[in-house]
Amino acid sequence: MTDARQAETAPQGTDRRVRVGVIGLGWAGQQHVAAYAADPTVDLVAISAMEEHLLARFGDEHDVPGRYQDWQQMIAEAELDAVSIATPTFLHAPMAIAALDAGLHVISEKPMAENAESAARMVEAADRAGRVLDVSFNHRQRGDVTALRAVVESGVLGKLYYAKTGWIRRQGIPGLGTWFTKSESSGGGALMDIGIHMLDMALHLMGEPTVTAASASTHAEFGPLGRGGSGFGISQVEDGVPFEVEDLATAFLRLDGGGTLLLESSWAQWIPHDLCYVTLYGADGGATIEWGGDAGAQITVWTEVAGMPAELQPVVGADGRHAAAVANFLQKVRSEDWTGHNGALALRRATVIDACYASAKAGAEVVLEG
Ligand SMILES: NC(=O)c1ccc[n+]([C@@H]2O[C@H](COP(=O)([O-])OP(=O)(O)OC[C@H]3O[C@@H](n4cnc5c(N)ncnc54)[C@H](O)[C@@H]3O)[C@@H](O)[C@H]2O)c1
Repeated sequence: MTDARQAETAPQGTDRRVRVGVIGLGWAGQQHVAAYAADPTVDLVAISAMEEHLLARFGDEHDVPGRYQDWQQMIAEAELDAVSIATPTFLHAPMAIAALDAGLHVISEKPMAENAESAARMVEAADRAGRVLDVSFNHRQRGDVTALRAVVESGVLGKLYYAKTGWIRRQGIPGLGTWFTKSESSGGGALMDIGIHMLDMALHLMGEPTVTAASASTHAEFGPLGRGGSGFGISQVEDGVPFEVEDLATAFLRLDGGGTLLLESSWAQWIPHDLCYVTLYGADGGATIEWGGDAGAQITVWTEVAGMPAELQPVVGADGRHAAAVANFLQKVRSEDWTGHNGALALRRATVIDACYASAKAGAEVVLEG
């Protein structure tokens, strides 16, 4: 894209229409397509994926004129302002960097990249291009998470000094025998895939403390035996793809200011049903959110009211999820402040995940720089 065209199409102001494309049409890409299709201020003009039938299905369903098996052709031809990247994780960095270099704003699926080095190159590209780089942490848009964040901000819990979080699936290895379970393409297993959502939510809820050190361990007791698989992921299963990543990871994270965060994530475990939780411990109160199995999202706060111990159950608002994550991205695209949104927070998450893997490999605590 030429400088003249960048200036001409650069969307600013709340009423500017935004021309968007989506790369990848698995479950994640379909959430972005649905979010854009439901937004009357957006023109979903192009989609890209390897699967011809999905290009036809979503192209027809949402009247999308541009349908590309070649994503580079889409970037070159579709005259986009912004693109969503929802492809296998190792493709996020090359696709995002190419799109940013072409003057597009980018929202990538989580995890940002297969490692922090690639994630850092994405941030550099965003800085170079002066465009928005966002990462879809859709779970922090859940109704219970936004409610708990409001509870924290009210100050009722006092100083937060400890938190525990986890996502443990009963049987949920995605794409056993696909890119998901190859370390080169996914960068890691349960921690990289679902643990990162819980890490993001916990740090967000705690007010973004810096992680100063990580001590972690990883295990693979299900995947190597072909156990624990699920129907998640549409990518082709290849015969003989080894299971190279962990199916359980647990980490002890030190936070600046002396706080502690415990994180566990597992794709498959001998438990009655999937379980997700974040529990916060503060000097003046505690709170937890939990979901899984048949139970809907629950939020409970323990504190004191009029000198008496009290248990509160705030009413949880609607879930935002991907639609809210995409709406936030569009808001940034329409703002005048593109350089303030360069993916730096998601890079910090990637750095913590890398430190956990390094710690698990070394069998020792890893101190994070700076
Ligand atoms: N935020 C969430 O809740 C969430 C949920 C699931 C997956 N994800 C993330 O989204 C990403 C995709 O996951 P998925 O489960 O949808 O994967 P998937 O394997 O089901 O689908 C991948 C899609 O990418 C496309 N693709 C692959 N190579 C391509 C190329 N060269 N050009 C164009 N398209 C290409 C495939 O054709 C397919 O449509 C991953 O990074 C994953 O971690 C996020």
